[in-house]
Amino acid sequence: MPPRQLFFTCVLTIISLTSAEYSFTLYKSSIPAGTTNLDQLDPALPTYIIVHGWHQDSTNPGLLQMKNAYLSLAPANVVIFNWAPDSLTINYFGAAAAVLPAGKVLGHKIATLSSTLKINIKITKLIGFSLGAHVAGVAGKIFKYVTKTQLEHIVGLEAPIVGFVINTNRLNIHDAKFVLAFHTSIFGKIENYGHVDVYFNYNLLGWGLFQPNCPANPGLNVPAVFNNGWCNHVRSVAYWIESITNNHFWAVRCNCWFKQWNLCKDSGVLIGHGMNSTLRGAFCLKTTGVNPFGKGYAGIC
Ligand SMILES: *[C@@H]1O[C@H](CO)[C@@H](O)[C@H](O)[C@H]1NC(C)=O
Repeated sequence: MPPRQLFFTCVLTIISLTSAEYSFTLYKSSIPAGTTNLDQLDPALPTYIIVHGWHQDSTNPGLLQMKNAYLSLAPANVVIFNWAPDSLTINYFGAAAAVLPAGKVLGHKIATLSSTLKINIKITKLIGFSLGAHVAGVAGKIFKYVTKTQLEHIVGLEAPIVGFVINTNRLNIHDAKFVLAFHTSIFGKIENYGHVDVYFNYNLLGWGLFQPNCPANPGLNVPAVFNNGWCNHVRSVAYWIESITNNHFWAVRCNCWFKQWNLCKDSGVLIGHGMNSTLRGAFCLKTTGVNPFGKGYAGIC
C-alpha cells in the first residue's frame, strides 16, 4: 500500500473506531425499507425490539426474516438495535465485553421512548439472540434502574454461557416481568434462566443441545468456522420466527436437566410468540429437522 493511502486508511480506521455508534432501525408496514428516525414510531402499535448477536449486525438475514414475520402478522413497530461496532469482531470476548455498554444504550433508549410516549411499554417486547439476549437483559436492568418499573417481556434465544459464568451482566429472571428462554445448543446456558425455559429436542446428552438436521442450515449467517455448533445455536431463531406466523410448538413440562419429562402424559402447552405469559417452569418438545419445524401434538410424544 502506498504511504499516502496507508496514512488515510489509518486515519479513517481511527475515525471509524472512535465515532462508531450503535443505531436503531425502525420498520413498519408503511416503512418497509426501514428508517433511523424513531419519531415514526406509532405508540398505538406493539413494538418488537430485536437485538443481534456476536458476529452479526442489523442486516442479518435471519433477523430480517424475524422482522418480516412480525410485520406479516399485524401492524407493529419493529426496531432492530444495531451494536455492530462491537459485535462484528472475530474476538468473541471483545464482543461479550460490549454487552454492558450496548445494553446500557438500549435500556436508556427504551426508557426515553417510553417516557416520551413514543412507545407503549406495556406492549413492547425485546427479542435477543445469543449475546443479544444478554444485551436485552442489561437493557432490562437499566430500564428498571431508571424507571423503577420492569420491562414486560424479554425473549432470550440461546443466551450464551461462555463469558457469563461469573459475569452478572447476563439475562436473568429479574430483567422483565416475563423472561422466555429458548435452549437449542451447547453454546447456550444449559440451566434455566427464565420464567419459562424451553428445551428443544433430545439426544443422549440431554434436552436442548442438538437440533435435527444440523449442520445444514442455509439462510442464516453462519461463520464457516462454527458451522456445526452454530447451526444448533441459530436454529433458535428459526423456531422463534416460525412461532410468530405458524405456531405449532406444543411442549410439556419437564425437568430437562435431569432428563425427566412427561412426554405423551401431560397435556401440552403452546410455547413461543403469543404464548400464555402466566406459565412458569421448564418445558420440552421435539421438532422436525426442516421447515416447518413445529410438530403440533406429535412434538410431545
Ligand atoms: C393463561 O393461563 C392462566 C392460568 O392457567 C389462565 O387463567 C388464563 O386464562 C390464560 N390466559 C389466556 C389468554 O389463555
